[in-house]
Amino acid sequence: MTNPVSDTSNPTHSSPAVVFETHDVTKTYQMGEVEVRALRGIDLELYEGEFVVMLGPSGSGKSTLLNILGGLDVPSSGTVRYGDTDLSTFNESVLTQYRREHVGFVFQFYNLIPSLTARENVALVTEISSQPLAPEEALKLVELSDRMDHFPAQLSGGEQQRVAIARAIAKRPRVLLCDEPTGALDIRTGIVVLEALAKVNRELGTTTVVITHNVAIADMADRVIRLSDGMIASIEGNPHKKSPSELSW
Ligand SMILES: Nc1ncnc2c1ncn2[C@@H]1O[C@H](COP(=O)(O)OP(=O)(O)OP(=O)(O)O)[C@@H](O)[C@H]1O
Ligand SMILES: [Mg+2]
Repeated sequence: MTNPVSDTSNPTHSSPAVVFETHDVTKTYQMGEVEVRALRGIDLELYEGEFVVMLGPSGSGKSTLLNILGGLDVPSSGTVRYGDTDLSTFNESVLTQYRREHVGFVFQFYNLIPSLTARENVALVTEISSQPLAPEEALKLVELSDRMDHFPAQLSGGEQQRVAIARAIAKRPRVLLCDEPTGALDIRTGIVVLEALAKVNRELGTTTVVITHNVAIADMADRVIRLSDGMIASIEGNPHKKSPSELSW
């Protein structure tokens, strides 16, 4: 699939669909007497099919923002539009439905069920989805066809993370939200996991957001968003997108 976002130089090309549009999103946590202002007015658009890397110091609000986009949390004020719908007005059961049908999550720790094989871990999700990929197909996308009947304890960290990615994408979500997906992995294994994310983004057109502390990963993004102190510090396009194997760490 050609990427509509990196094609903005072509004036005849129609602009890509907006998947998310946030307006003045804030999030304040009340900790007893203390207010923690995790997000302080986020205005952001995310586009269909793009690969976004989100950077920022610890505590800058990255996970909070990702969790709000994914319907795991709700803003204190402001609006979050997903397509034509306003997520910030959703109640818990509608948010659950939204998460189930539209969003895939990948976290630093893989959260696989130890007593189930790779195939069974993925099948748990495909069984409750309306138009899923077959578990075998999802595992093939992340290059794990030869490990499908292994249990998590029989897989390396990178392999377990790729099972987690297969599980997240098997329901064909429109968006894939990844919070430090390579945080627990060494460089070489991290690259394999990033290859899997890039492939899913390319082949399924899944809008992908990756939070990372590794600045090198920004080179594989269509756009790089930097957060600082609960606000957006910068948003930059990346005209020279690299493949994960070309990243210099
Ligand atoms: N559930 C919560 N209750 C209270 N404060 C919270 C909660 N979640 C996050 N915070 C606070 O909100 C701020 C932003 O946290 P967040 O987890 O979004 O940061 P982050 O950018 O993801 O950091 P890191 O890179 O360390 O993961 C921090 O000051 C954090 O302590
Ligand atoms: Mg975080």
